[in-house]
Amino acid sequence: MLRAPRCLLRTSVAPAAALAAALLSSFARCSLLEPRDPGASSLSPYFGTKTRYEDVSPGLLAGTEAPWRDPELLEGTCTPVQLVALIRHGTRYPTAKQIRKLRQLHGLLQARGSRDGGASSTGSRDLGAALADWPLWYADWMDGQLVEKGRQDMRQLALRLASLFPTLFSLENYGRLRLITSSKHRCVDSGAAFLQGLWQHYHPGLPPPDVADMECGPPRVNDKLMRFFDHCEKFLTEVERNATALYHVEAFKTGPEMQNILKKVAATLQVPVNDLNADLIQVAFFTCSFDLAIKGVKSPWCDVFDIDDAKKKGEVLEYLNDLKQYWKRGYGYTINSRSSCTLFQDIFQHLDKAVEQKQRSQPVSSPVILQFGHAETLLPLLSLMGYFKDKEPLTAYNYKEQMHRKFRSGHIVPYASNLIFVLYHCENAKPPKEQFQVQMLLNEKVLPLAYSQETVSFYEDLKNHYKDILQSCQTSEECELAKANSTSDEL
Ligand SMILES: *[C@@H]1O[C@H](CO)[C@@H](O)[C@H](O)[C@H]1NC(C)=O
Ligand SMILES: *[C@@H]1O[C@H](CO)[C@@H](O)[C@H](O)[C@H]1NC(C)=O
Repeated sequence: MLRAPRCLLRTSVAPAAALAAALLSSFARCSLLEPRDPGASSLSPYFGTKTRYEDVSPGLLAGTEAPWRDPELLEGTCTPVQLVALIRHGTRYPTAKQIRKLRQLHGLLQARGSRDGGASSTGSRDLGAALADWPLWYADWMDGQLVEKGRQDMRQLALRLASLFPTLFSLENYGRLRLITSSKHRCVDSGAAFLQGLWQHYHPGLPPPDVADMECGPPRVNDKLMRFFDHCEKFLTEVERNATALYHVEAFKTGPEMQNILKKVAATLQVPVNDLNADLIQVAFFTCSFDLAIKGVKSPWCDVFDIDDAKKKGEVLEYLNDLKQYWKRGYGYTINSRSSCTLFQDIFQHLDKAVEQKQRSQPVSSPVILQFGHAETLLPLLSLMGYFKDKEPLTAYNYKEQMHRKFRSGHIVPYASNLIFVLYHCENAKPPKEQFQVQMLLNEKVLPLAYSQETVSFYEDLKNHYKDILQSCQTSEECELAKANSTSDEL
């Protein structure tokens, strides 16, 4: 008997008709990929974690018909039997903190306008006055939430993955999807949008129901897994709440590269250089990135940097962003990556189980596992696995030497970035060890093994390589604060 897919609609869609119509029209829109990219600026390559997914996947902007398929992906006698995906939420609004800083900068420009009567002495276009008049459309309620473009990021990713791995995302497997998410709205909503994208894959033209009405239900929240950094006492004390842990970030903000930008921007905006600081410059830069990612428009805030040497300014601001990620999420401190051991082990527990089930000729109980989190979820895990490691640490003082660094958050964790583990069963392989193989994909491109540069690994070899992390990294121990040595007379 054919088992009814459990993820299908349980209740009537009638009450959701209006929403459905809206979704349908947005599906219609998103299927027509924009051939042009009017919002792109020369600054786009430097937006770090605020980079659009399409900016690291050029095939998407080109608007090709069939999804691009990495030629390194295994096919033939090896069948994918399980997929575990870690997915960063899609495009989001700025956080309340970023909006507050933007208001501060905006206020500064408005004050400047009233001080000199708004008259431009040169008669040329006065950017400061133009920005002062520019309506700030960001409001506090937006606080980091997923935007419509972010839902679209997720639906399209779902459609591409479903056509890349049709046997895993089969209609029969639909009811066995497992979705896990961080508790943040933008992640929960990303999971829901992903499900709606899959719905669209199976029922083209039929409006997707609310995820609450899908029997597999909405994504399940698990912050211990997806926000492990909030649950690691050692990380919180030594890095997150430690004023000196980000020393290099602060030092770079007052260093010569940033000072140079401050002077130039002060001149462009005709404000005293002392009224500006690196944080305000950075918020103008972020606003340029948000207006592009959210609205697809080239913001006047980009002009602050575009006037001369946009590339040079972009590179410095990109470095500032990367420095923070490096010291807070990457190789800067060991605890940053060690705090993600549980997540790493969780992935391998899923893979282990699938291998066992295949060996017993049973169906794989969870063929597709989708986990929605943050850039802060992905970066520590990639660092734990040894990816994007530069020979020298990123510091406030080696900006020049790090021009060609590997650790570039814009390339690694743009919006909707994804790290995918694919387990293959290779039927005809004779030695048992060769029957199970793994490939990893980062942003839909095959990610060669950090230690061998091979594009595929026998599952046993992979586990063996990461033996230490799999066997000797216990969160309870890693995240425990070093105890004060009070009792030295312990027996
Ligand atoms: C804060 O960070 C600095 C620099 O890494 C370190 O030396 C210090 O021990 C940290 N403080 C705490 C309370 O962990
Ligand atoms: C704890 O105290 C004992 C005795 O004073 C000393 O030998 C030992 O090195 C201390 N351990 C640490 C971690 O400070």
